Amino acid sequence: MLLDREKVTRAFDQYVSDYNADDPKIRLKIDHTYRVAALCEQIGQAVPVVDTDLVWLCGMLHDIGRFEQVRRYNTFVDAVSVEHAAFGADLLFNEGLLNRFCTGLSETEQRILECSIRNHSAYRLSPDLSETEITYSNVLRDADKIDIFRVNCDTPLEEIYNVTTEDLKNSFVSEEVKECFRNRTAVLRKLKKTPIDYVVAHLCLVFELVYPISRVIARKQGYADRMLSFESDNPDTAEWFAMMRSTIWE
Ligand SMILES: [Fe+2]
Repeated sequence: MLLDREKVTRAFDQYVSDYNADDPKIRLKIDHTYRVAALCEQIGQAVPVVDTDLVWLCGMLHDIGRFEQVRRYNTFVDAVSVEHAAFGADLLFNEGLLNRFCTGLSETEQRILECSIRNHSAYRLSPDLSETEITYSNVLRDADKIDIFRVNCDTPLEEIYNVTTEDLKNSFVSEEVKECFRNRTAVLRKLKKTPIDYVVAHLCLVFELVYPISRVIARKQGYADRMLSFESDNPDTAEWFAMMRSTIWE
């Protein structure tokens, strides 16, 4: 595909300038977008059949719904506002927003783009996707997860999870969440009950990385390891973190 990346970047900067970049929530998503797009390209280069321009575009547009979400609802919590992935895909593909970023995509390219954006935050990919759609979705999902580890380190946990330091330091990891870690799988939203459950759940994303290159990048960036160095005042949680540190990359 022939993509005018400069045009996409300009259009993105223009689009987000309508939102308040001084709002840390908006700033976070702008930085996240650029990082995810770069990661998509990096992972995509290691995956045959992936067009690096198209997968970069998936990264650039994957969270476009976040800006309207935070403007309208002042939250990133989908459960109390809108499903940001579907919302973004609707804005792009049903309300014509895509044309601001690029025109002339083939039907197949549009389908891949829409599908990967719509599915990027789903717990599991829908079984009726084509092999190509699965591949692009997986690259995007890996890139998004890798950058979540960074966000967990660059933003105070209290802010991300809306909890006090005391609660975070003292809380227990719920048994169901521990079970997910033992089974090396992602944690369903409804299983997270305590503040530290959210941190463990984010760490469990390591297990969901599809491509070996994604694990290599995540490990090299070191953010997941920094999350693992969390010092809990709760002896049970401290012990649990020690166990996670020694087994997560096995
Ligand atoms: Fe997202």
